[in-house]
Amino acid sequence: MDSDITYLGKIIRVDSSTVEVEVSDDIPSAAPIINGRLYKIGQIGTFVKMPMGNITTYGIVSSVSNTPGKPDDNQARQIFGSRFLSVQLVGEKIGDDDFEKGIGTYPTINDAVHIVVEKDLFNIYGEKDTGSIEIGKHSSSDNLSVCVDIHKLILRHCAILGSTGSGKSNTTVSILKAILNNYLGSRVILVDPHGEYASAFPDAKVYKINDSSDPLYIPFWLMNFDELAFFLVGAKPTDDQRPEYRLLREWITGYKKENYQLKSGDVNRDFITADSPIPFNARKLWHDMNWWLNATFSESTKDKQTKDNAQLQKDEDGNPKNGNYDELRQAEFKPYPMGSNAPYKSKHQDFYSYEKKLLSRLKDSRFDFMFHPGDYKDKSSLKDLHNLLNDWIGSDSKLVILDLGGIPFEVLDIAIGLITRFVYDSMFWGRNESYTGRNRPLLLAYEEAHTYLNKNDNNSYSKNAVERIFKEGRKFGVGALVISQRPSEISETILAQIGTFIALRLTNSGDQSIVKSSSPDNLNSLIDLLPSLRIGEAVIVGEAIKIPSRIRVKLNNPRPTSDDPKLIECWSKTHSTSDDKYKSVVTKIREQRR
Ligand SMILES: Nc1ncnc2c1ncn2[C@@H]1O[C@H](COP(=O)(O)OP(=O)(O)OP(=O)(O)O)[C@@H](O)[C@H]1O
Ligand SMILES: [Mg+2]
Repeated sequence: MDSDITYLGKIIRVDSSTVEVEVSDDIPSAAPIINGRLYKIGQIGTFVKMPMGNITTYGIVSSVSNTPGKPDDNQARQIFGSRFLSVQLVGEKIGDDDFEKGIGTYPTINDAVHIVVEKDLFNIYGEKDTGSIEIGKHSSSDNLSVCVDIHKLILRHCAILGSTGSGKSNTTVSILKAILNNYLGSRVILVDPHGEYASAFPDAKVYKINDSSDPLYIPFWLMNFDELAFFLVGAKPTDDQRPEYRLLREWITGYKKENYQLKSGDVNRDFITADSPIPFNARKLWHDMNWWLNATFSESTKDKQTKDNAQLQKDEDGNPKNGNYDELRQAEFKPYPMGSNAPYKSKHQDFYSYEKKLLSRLKDSRFDFMFHPGDYKDKSSLKDLHNLLNDWIGSDSKLVILDLGGIPFEVLDIAIGLITRFVYDSMFWGRNESYTGRNRPLLLAYEEAHTYLNKNDNNSYSKNAVERIFKEGRKFGVGALVISQRPSEISETILAQIGTFIALRLTNSGDQSIVKSSSPDNLNSLIDLLPSLRIGEAVIVGEAIKIPSRIRVKLNNPRPTSDDPKLIECWSKTHSTSDDKYKSVVTKIREQRR
């Protein structure tokens, strides 16, 4: 036997990326103590090493049995008293070089296999440097910090996955804190659909829909034309052959062209299209639609029915009753008689089906943050989009939390879609500016991603926008992080572009297999641990980590407000009753405000 205290056994079989190890009968103990530390031989997920000259190959124990070969191998020899380890090879270290993933030289039969001790782990993980942040401690050593390469973590995108209560939000806080504390010029937008993160980041700037002090505004005119048409009047791009759809495009282009002089700078009118993010008044759009639908004229043919011969009613002072678009009050016209006398009914009926839909949208108070976006309301407002960008990504605050708590799903989807697209566009068009784009990358973090990045939802604004970041964001300095408890529901385009997976306990087998099949390293043995991880324990695989690892994330303080309710405490006491209870709850349900 090898006299080395770390000696474990020898290789008896080599497959493409797995080797089988026969544990030596002469090992004095199944749990040797080396340099004062206890090591348990054959623990799934632990490392072993195979030194061959100046190359040391490292692997992870994936299964243990007392029979060599695969469990279903009929030829298997029964040898009791020995143990056999299946080891997945992960990488190698040549001489004093850094550890590298991937295998250049394969070990072979009878090569010695050793336990990996703490010192080896320190060698593999190396020192923390300016390009890395610590995200937790190694599960098998409290002293060993596990660091991730921040460049790859952000710009190759990453995911934090885990069943509910497994510690995702806490892990998110750990990572964001590490980023904010280590990098002065970092910037992060956290999309927070449950409004749980503000408590964990007292220094962050928080914008919240309907908030009185820091309201989140997302002007509706950020939408492109197809989105606007769908959102305002329920029309789909497939309607583009219909006259009303074309007319709507013409009108909106017209309104936008009128508003070419803007606070951020004038825009060349020739370049303005229905898609340009230029303010216009949706109430005026409604009013104009309504005007042409209900007007009466002194002329009967359509092309002679113009504004000049419209038959408006007059008030006591003789002024025409033009209505008021801000108050959503329609213009009033002289009624047309039965028969064929003037005034004549309007022949401009194109917007017959759109007008009512638009009116009900405008009256829906849930969309106030889009239709009444404070100082961003229209061209004459105090602020323009550069102010919005300054608030979101240009302020002193390295972290901006967009709290979307309490808004209904339909609104959530639009809001996240618009935020994402606008921020992405700003990075794309600002890619060469010294203060943004490639010169100051940005991380967008999406909590509860499965709800709005669902693979089965084909009409999702947010999914389309976020997919674009995953596909192309890297080139313009935009990285993304998705946080989700149901990875199997997330868009496949997004999953395919995730470079680093931080997977906490995952109990659902469909979700586990997503991590298994999407993770860049083919390391099923670690992924198989997912259902048995403890709270706050995670497996990290992918580009940002030197070697796939099982880590423990520390519990942060202050924490996100996502703690479980104190069930026993609440159920252990009696609660008072009164008829007035639930009134405020019902009002909140009705107003959809928190
Ligand atoms: N690293 C940790 N160590 C100890 N306890 C933890 C750790 N991480 C989380 N917890 C505890 O687990 C609970 C749930 O954590 P957390 O809110 O982060 O889970 P989650 O995965 O985000 O859940 P959800 O899917 O419901 O959002 C918290 O009450 C927290 O106290
Ligand atoms: Mg959470």
